[in-house]
Amino acid sequence: MKVLIVGNGAREHAIAEKLAQDCELYAVMSKKNPAIAQLSKEYWISDIENAEAVGKAIAGREFDLGFASPDATLAAGVSDILAKCGMLVASPSKEAARIEWDKSFMRSLLERHKIRGSPKHEVVTTVGDARRVVKDLGMVAIKPLGLTGGKGVKISGDHFSEIDEGMEYAKSLIDKDGSVLIEEKLVGEEFTFQCFSDGSRIATMPPVQDHKRAFENDLGPNTGGMGSYSSGARLPFTKEQDMDEAKKILQGVIHAMKKDGNPFRGVLYGQFMVTAHGVKIIEFNARFGDPEAMNVISLLEDSLTNVFLSIAEGQLSNPSFSDDCTVVKYMVPQGYPDKPLKDAAVSIDASGIESSGAKVYYASVYEEKGKILTTGSRAFGVLGRAGNLQDAERIAEKGCSCISGPVWHRPDIGTMGLISRKVERMRSIRGESS
Ligand code: AMP
Ligand code: GLY
Repeated sequence: MKVLIVGNGAREHAIAEKLAQDCELYAVMSKKNPAIAQLSKEYWISDIENAEAVGKAIAGREFDLGFASPDATLAAGVSDILAKCGMLVASPSKEAARIEWDKSFMRSLLERHKIRGSPKHEVVTTVGDARRVVKDLGMVAIKPLGLTGGKGVKISGDHFSEIDEGMEYAKSLIDKDGSVLIEEKLVGEEFTFQCFSDGSRIATMPPVQDHKRAFENDLGPNTGGMGSYSSGARLPFTKEQDMDEAKKILQGVIHAMKKDGNPFRGVLYGQFMVTAHGVKIIEFNARFGDPEAMNVISLLEDSLTNVFLSIAEGQLSNPSFSDDCTVVKYMVPQGYPDKPLKDAAVSIDASGIESSGAKVYYASVYEEKGKILTTGSRAFGVLGRAGNLQDAERIAEKGCSCISGPVWHRPDIGTMGLISRKVERMRSIRGESS
């Protein structure tokens, strides 16, 4: 099988590594990811947020199966171009990926099909309406409708305290985009629940908790995600009923999109929050999460090539996942996310990594004259996997200590200290005694 992947981050490195176990891999990348390049029989450098450019890069070549991975690549219609080039495709069309790139579409899909889980919300186009909605809802999340890499949301109490500050942000989004989404602020613990879908059926993956805030104890600015952990079929703070509710919402979306004649084939990612009033949906992504892909793909016990094939052919079965625990920590450049150090040399002690048992995934780095350099975005994902969280966390930490240079990570991710605080917090939100 000749399989083509489009993308070049740590998430795509994890996907590529798994695919390359049983297919002949090819890649289109915006910048050369040295690890993906090594796994690929051939690769092309192209603007991967431009469907035509990707089409040109692979013109005259034949592939059996294609998978477009990052959000902006899907929003640019790259899956549609791959299909036009004659291959089977396991990632969603531009129209199906709208579930991610248009939050107004997403909220109205849920409403029209009576799928529960949305917070109170309204899309407004004037500052007057924005002020009215904020007055009605009280504590709010103010967000653009489109893609922002997880960094476009501002929340009462976290990012602004006065209504006027919130209004300033709402106005800036209205001026730029013509509209803004205002949602009631939800309080609870977030988790990621991803599934494969062939347009009708879903097969869920183990849930994961990502950490969006830059600094320890979930403080500081939002980032693309600083690290994540998984602990089998449930997270330490979720109950079976939470997972059932979340699964129903994912299945509901797949049914709704099929009914609307816009079937979703690929990986559907639900960003959920467990609250005092059940599970709520924050957003959907039309792709694997980054870093969450590193957690779940390492646990997949079946061939990812076969899973992708079954998605594209409408024949999805239930792939199996190990019950092991995983912890991923992102190493990021000094100054990240506000003033990240670019073009700084970092080095990896490969034999140290090997003996630590960790795995390192290359994210936003490049190679020049035999050196690995940072670009300013997240540099490496470091994965630890073990039978329990403590060991998985220790392995990830050991892996991080084998990377030197001006990069840092959050040592608290996956530790029992941080996790038990989350469990306690969730108990108190649910009104349970500890
Ligand atoms: P999004 O880009 O919609 O995923 O939002 C990024 C982050 O902002 C989420 O992961 C949440 O931490 C936070 N967030 C978004 N919407 C809400 C909401 N309605 N209530 C509380 N937090 C939110
Ligand atoms: N981990 C968040 C995302 O992939 O959007």
